[in-house]
Amino acid sequence: MSLLIKNGEIVTPDARYVADIFCADEQITRIDRHLPAPPGCEVVDAAGKYVFPGFIDPHVHIYLPFMGTRAKDDYATGSRAALVGGTTTLIEMCCPGRTDDALEAFELWRAQAEGRSACDFTFHMGVTRFDDRAESQLREIVRRGISSFKIFLAYKGAFGIDDTELYRTLRLARELGVIVTAHCENETLVAERSRELLAAGKTDPGQHHESRPPTVEAEGVHHLMTFAELTGAATYIVHLSCREALAQAIAARQRGVRVSVETLIQYLLLDKTYAERPDFEGAKYVMSPPLRDARNQAVLWHGLRDGLIQTVATDHAPFDFATQKPLGRHDFTKIPNGIPSLEERVNLLYTHGVRAGRLDLHTFVDVASTQAAKTFGLFPRKGAIQPGADADLVVFDPAYRGAISARTQSMNVDYSAFEGWPLEGRASVVTVRGQVAARDGRFTGQPGRGRFLARTPGHF
Ligand code: URP
Ligand code: ZN
Ligand code: ZN
Repeated sequence: MSLLIKNGEIVTPDARYVADIFCADEQITRIDRHLPAPPGCEVVDAAGKYVFPGFIDPHVHIYLPFMGTRAKDDYATGSRAALVGGTTTLIEMCCPGRTDDALEAFELWRAQAEGRSACDFTFHMGVTRFDDRAESQLREIVRRGISSFKIFLAYKGAFGIDDTELYRTLRLARELGVIVTAHCENETLVAERSRELLAAGKTDPGQHHESRPPTVEAEGVHHLMTFAELTGAATYIVHLSCREALAQAIAARQRGVRVSVETLIQYLLLDKTYAERPDFEGAKYVMSPPLRDARNQAVLWHGLRDGLIQTVATDHAPFDFATQKPLGRHDFTKIPNGIPSLEERVNLLYTHGVRAGRLDLHTFVDVASTQAAKTFGLFPRKGAIQPGADADLVVFDPAYRGAISARTQSMNVDYSAFEGWPLEGRASVVTVRGQVAARDGRFTGQPGRGRFLARTPGHF
């Protein structure tokens, strides 16, 4: 089975040209003008459209037991939503509880995806406890194809680790050539401020961001940077939301700390007033770190444009508004954290980044695809358009006009944080290793065809 994408305008971080792309045996094999279609070849006419490398979401939660409930998507629905929106590779956080066995958790997460996911996938291995047993299991997990860890400085008692564990995790990562992704918030400050707010009767969703202001995140980043500096480990700050935290990361980078930065589509487009909406509607917008004052958005856009921030992810964590968010109706600390957006990241980033003149096309591709591939050991198999790369491609229609609605979304959750938001452009044909998996907002792929992407450490 072969595929020919004709006459599209190919865009990568460093090139832009019109050509045909021929794909066979799951890979791109030729790029040239006027390529012929052999018998039986599927032909996609991409005239007037862009062709991008398949987009990569480097931070999602699909299987997530969390805050007394479980995120709504599974790999069947999550990968479908990803593909409809142009995302062809998922990197999921494998998040065992503190008492769970790391190796068992890794195999459990992998089993959730194998046979269900329609797109390719890999994991950041959550280190939620570090002792001798965990260490030997982490070494084994790396041998099984994982080259990134995930740690939480927040959520103490659940996923969070203490400073001794942090130091030892970073030492191990340095030794193995593994990059450590980190949720950076000072948990003691969050806990104390939450206690004070609740004691004062301030229980509504709008208090969530009061409990974890920008300085709490900046302190978390500073803390991680200190440990990274002393251990020499490579680090990646997940879901960075504000100017204060970015300043800490940049200061550390300037003194030689190895650090990459991820922000989220939510922080670029939404602000804290959404979480202050009345009648508990703000719960739809509760996540951690929280949505910030709108002034931070320009800082994050500029950070992407200037190369200070490397990636845009979603931290997709879907919890229903009707049945799950109300766990925190009388106590904001119990609202399951997360704002679903896996399906709309690419289209929103194009509409509000490229169309709005905030990002050029090359930076758009870089931050939504190629940088994640390079940072996490997937490049040039993913994130590239060149012979030998996997034929994960997005034919993108810049003339599309439409709007986002929960009624039409593929994500398995009962609301959209972007309800009614207009889109100017969308992923029109999406391929996974040479097979069309989505067309014009509809999944047409093969459930379960996605593969685990084994990675080798030491790639950065
Ligand atoms: O609010 C969030 N971010 N939910 C998912 C868990 C995490 O912290 O990444
Ligand atoms: Zn997090
Ligand atoms: Zn997350």
